[in-house]
Amino acid sequence: MRNGKGAQQSHAIYPGSFDPPTNGHLDVIARAAAIFPLVTVAVVVNPQKRSPFFALDEREEMLRRCTHGYDNVRVDRFRGLLADFIKRTEAHVIVKGLRVVSDFENEMAFAHMNRSLSNVDTMFLMSDSSYSFVSSSLIKEVFLQGGDIAKYVPDVVLEFMHLKRPAHGRK
Ligand code: PNS
Repeated sequence: MRNGKGAQQSHAIYPGSFDPPTNGHLDVIARAAAIFPLVTVAVVVNPQKRSPFFALDEREEMLRRCTHGYDNVRVDRFRGLLADFIKRTEAHVIVKGLRVVSDFENEMAFAHMNRSLSNVDTMFLMSDSSYSFVSSSLIKEVFLQGGDIAKYVPDVVLEFMHLKRPAHGRK
């Protein structure tokens, strides 16, 4: 955390692709909102190495609707380096969710790089173990093959997914 601020004074950034947001993401947002006075859920404009299933506006809209009950959570977008967004917003800490130990390997490198670039630490929050196998990419795969994803995503995301179905062909 930079500036020696404690969690009670800190602005936390929770970055991700959120393509789409899952119950696991919402669990991390709830945990972060209980710790930090301000949490910005930061949607990356262009997820790395793939074209997103949902447009940026849709990903933001889903997150806004899912988080409308939190006074201290806002949704924003960023392009380019997370470290530059951190500097622009003068945030104090990055929040990332961890599901399983294997997540940690990549996340540790990201955390070191982000601290090296912006002098901001990353705090890891473990989502509930019931979400340990839930990822946006698996959700999309199960959905596109006609599987039931209702247990794994918020209702609003389910609605957005169903609106996508004709465009993506199956069922
Ligand atoms: O939900 P995701 O796809 O796991 O989120 C990854 C994300 C967006 C957090 C990461 O790719 C990111 O920070 N991208 C911005 C570009 C950047 O700063 N890259 C260097 C990371 S150290």
